[in-house]
Amino acid sequence: MILPIRLWPDPVLTKPSSTIEVFDDELRSFAENMAETMYSANGLGLAAPQVGELRRLIVVDVDPIDQENPHGLITLINPRVSSAKGQIIWEEGCLSFPGVAEKVKRPNQVVVEYQTVEGERRELRAEGILSVCVQHEIDHLNGVNFIDRLSRLKRTLTLREFYKLHPEQAKIAKK
Ligand code: NI
Repeated sequence: MILPIRLWPDPVLTKPSSTIEVFDDELRSFAENMAETMYSANGLGLAAPQVGELRRLIVVDVDPIDQENPHGLITLINPRVSSAKGQIIWEEGCLSFPGVAEKVKRPNQVVVEYQTVEGERRELRAEGILSVCVQHEIDHLNGVNFIDRLSRLKRTLTLREFYKLHPEQAKIAKK
């Protein structure tokens, strides 16, 4: 089932998500819907708050732009960056900000501890675009959006561009 994606400035995008403690069929079906929603929107990642659910679940699949090193779909529950190093600058977009993208600086290599939909503990070692994508999605679980990683000026300009493309969102922002 494809879920509606919340656009900025939906307040759900700035709230922290809760730890997932129950690993049941409902969670598995929600994770499947998240993946279906991400693929149908041609996204590389999606976090639960972007479909209005404040729980710590993200899906990522960067294979469309990283075919050399295929990982396929990865569903991460309660993900946490346990170590980070290096630096990468990548032009990031976000399904909650369609039409805009801006360069963001992040660590290039991360180790992420997470749980599977079955509740098993795993570790993901990611670098490059996969690392960027996982960090971007984990940010969403903390109510942080990629625009928050920009300078004040770049943030203002990016939002101005977004509101120009989406006047209905600009109206919501003014309320
Ligand atoms: Ni995003």
